[in-house]
Amino acid sequence: MELLTENLNIENGHLTVGGVDTVELAREYGTPLYVMDRDLMAKTAREYKSAIERAYGKGNGRILYASKAFCCLESCRFAAAEGLGLDVVSGGELYTALKAGFPAELICFHGNNKTDAELKMAILNGVGHVIVDNLFELERLNAFALEEGKRVRIMFRIKPGIDAHTHDYVRTGSIDSKFGFALENGEAYEIAKATLSMKGVEFTGIHCHIGSQIFDIEPFEDAAEVMLNFMAKIKNELGITLTELNLGGGYGIKYTAENDPVPYGAYIEKISVRVKEVCKRLGISLPFIFMEPGRSLVGPAGITLYTVGSIKEIKGIKNYLAVDGGMADNPRYALYKSEYTVVAASRMNDAPEKEYTVAGKCCESGDLIQERVTLPEMKSGDILAVLATGAYNYSMSMNYNRIPRPPVVAVSGGSKSVWIKRESYDDIIKNDI
Ligand code: LLP
Repeated sequence: MELLTENLNIENGHLTVGGVDTVELAREYGTPLYVMDRDLMAKTAREYKSAIERAYGKGNGRILYASKAFCCLESCRFAAAEGLGLDVVSGGELYTALKAGFPAELICFHGNNKTDAELKMAILNGVGHVIVDNLFELERLNAFALEEGKRVRIMFRIKPGIDAHTHDYVRTGSIDSKFGFALENGEAYEIAKATLSMKGVEFTGIHCHIGSQIFDIEPFEDAAEVMLNFMAKIKNELGITLTELNLGGGYGIKYTAENDPVPYGAYIEKISVRVKEVCKRLGISLPFIFMEPGRSLVGPAGITLYTVGSIKEIKGIKNYLAVDGGMADNPRYALYKSEYTVVAASRMNDAPEKEYTVAGKCCESGDLIQERVTLPEMKSGDILAVLATGAYNYSMSMNYNRIPRPPVVAVSGGSKSVWIKRESYDDIIKNDI
């Protein structure tokens, strides 16, 4: 059986994560339980950092952790400790980062519909860059900055018109997207021109993000080329020299044995070759490069543990295996039919022999974690693990049916620490009047 990442192992018939027995974790903290392997997160962050340094030279690029993938005080402290920047997309993520003591100047603030309060929060706290999505935002940002006597560094979010092969809901680079300015219809050019008369903003670069869970490198290379062409155009025609290019995130991870991502280093290297070639051809200097991985930084480092409850074997139809969590802690199957690897964490030495549909406990037929999963003959009380749940699971969790969110426990060097406590029923009613 493929365990996807090198930090997962089998000892005494139990799944271990970072050397820690998952059945013990389930017993100690209860289930459902998110477990993050901090050491694997750190290893990936370092691989990314050294790859961008190798590709562009030290000091010429920065890895920003896209905190939407998994955001809490400890994840922000982690990013700071590893020398990463941060991509935030809401006042809530920004607040979390600032509370964690994350350096504001290393934050890029994204979002397609930032409120006045969010824009002011960014300005007052000295956020490094605001990634401006639309004219309405630009005008307000400029006015608020002038009111405060500040000049805010901005990049524009551009739709490079690249079609990446991924799920429709996470595809963002083409003209039919709610994010950013299109190139084809001159929108991006016009907004660049508009900055010439704005004193509250300093237009330093452009940003694109073509989608998520992408395995081909070519769309990233093509997007970089389109972006550089645009940089050259506005330099030549408007006299605006941009020094920064943010290429977003989107790199795919292994959810199942069939997924086969190339190593981060090779991916960054390949893009950098194209970036350098194109800069040379266009006669522009190499910009400072930002990349914003989210899923690939934390996804493989997380697993979710559940306890098996009721089992319904419907003859000639299917076998439902219900767990004590579900779409409330992982809505990705319900939303995108996302594939996951599911293993019997407490029965790793038993041969898989039966096909199950793993269902959650929400009052919703679509509340499934995965279908057609082959496991040993399961019993109530067994521990189930869903692998590679470190990204977009906790961050997309919800309280449907007033189900409290599970805790997040991190393992590192064989020891355990709670990053987020389990929600209580009192937490559930705390804002009710
Ligand atoms: N930068 C920007 C501007 C983004 O919009 C995103 C993701 C990222 C970086 C990070 O992308 P990543 O490296 O994680 O692919 N909820 C969906 C994923 C939505 C991604 C949104 N933007 C899912 O569960 O698959």
